[in-house]
Amino acid sequence: MAERRVSIVGGSGYTGGELLRLLLFHPRVTLVQVTSERFAGKPVYRVHPNLRGVTQARFCSLAELEPCDTLFLCLPHGKSMEQMPRFQRLAGNIIDLSGDFRLATPEAYQKWYGRPHLYPELLGEFVYGIPELYRRNIQQARYVSGAGCNATAVILALYPLFQQQLVYPERTVVEVKGGSSEGGNSPSEASHHPERNGVVRSYKPTGHRHIGEIEQTLGHPVHLSATALGIVRGILATCHVFLKQPLDEKSIWRIYRNAYGSEPFIRMVKERKGIYRLPEPKLLVGSNFCDIGFERDAGGNRLVVISAMDNLMKGAAGQAVQAFNIMHRFPETLGLEFPGLHPV
Ligand SMILES: NC(=O)c1ccc[n+]([C@@H]2O[C@H](COP(=O)([O-])OP(=O)(O)OC[C@H]3O[C@@H](n4cnc5c(N)ncnc54)[C@H](OP(=O)(O)O)[C@@H]3O)[C@@H](O)[C@H]2O)c1
Repeated sequence: MAERRVSIVGGSGYTGGELLRLLLFHPRVTLVQVTSERFAGKPVYRVHPNLRGVTQARFCSLAELEPCDTLFLCLPHGKSMEQMPRFQRLAGNIIDLSGDFRLATPEAYQKWYGRPHLYPELLGEFVYGIPELYRRNIQQARYVSGAGCNATAVILALYPLFQQQLVYPERTVVEVKGGSSEGGNSPSEASHHPERNGVVRSYKPTGHRHIGEIEQTLGHPVHLSATALGIVRGILATCHVFLKQPLDEKSIWRIYRNAYGSEPFIRMVKERKGIYRLPEPKLLVGSNFCDIGFERDAGGNRLVVISAMDNLMKGAAGQAVQAFNIMHRFPETLGLEFPGLHPV
């Protein structure tokens, strides 16, 4: 298939910067435009200094956006949907990283985002962008909605168990811990260095928005608490589930191997020894892997499933490029081969 002409809207933010880093090296992509209202006219490396010497591209304003094949939208939620009809006129394919088109109904959007959806008739046109679950739909899709970062970590950890109805859904408790880049690049009191550095801050013990997506995908609500850590990138989801039947670890392995054995970006991580015997987000910085491991509680029917990823990669830009590759029948791993760093 021919090269795709691609533009990024909201390219001065963290997910936009990560997409730039990936797409500039993607062999089937020609980068056309990158928008930023604050930095229009300025070189992109001024905002993303890791790209210094890599590209001479400059930001343009949204008003200057021209037609292209695929638009990646990296805007705050609420902002993507405001201009969606215009974006649809400009590009045949859209991958939206915001939360605006993740939920299937306007009622769910109102519930989790606290405002009415502006284009409820468009909700059904977006495929939820987790390739491991919806690869076939993504292949046929014109529009994909990137899944939330925490939601991706939880859904990938729990989907095989929920799909086979092996656990009591109402007793599922999840703790998600995430780095500061989850919050985007606008400074706030909470992100101010003396306040953020070194924190283990419980910021959403209940009511996190991503529960809506998780509930929609798993078919049941889960009890989720979210904690902010003093790291920049990374998510660790610790999921406590209670098994209906006394499954041993070999059977649980089989369930995950059947679900994910041929997935290029899921690794089962469960070693007997060593400090990295279970998933650890530190090892995944810059990579598109989601690592999943588990441990059976010897004293009862509790199973602890642990998943880890880089929120800006498998939780955002990496997963979006994976979906892009699937939509265009490119090899799924194209542009996503970087394995992460060690030590880091
Ligand atoms: N960070 C993550 O880990 C993560 C993971 C998954 C999904 N997401 C979602 O991805 C989207 C982008 O996240 P991010 O972390 O990249 O955010 P960010 O760092 O805050 O960047 C947001 C971008 O949107 C632009 N923007 C802000 N307000 C705007 C407005 N009113 N009109 C037009 N453009 C505006 C900003 O550029 P200018 O102000 O320069 O125009 C900036 O480029 C969000 O919806 C977020 O929820 C984020």
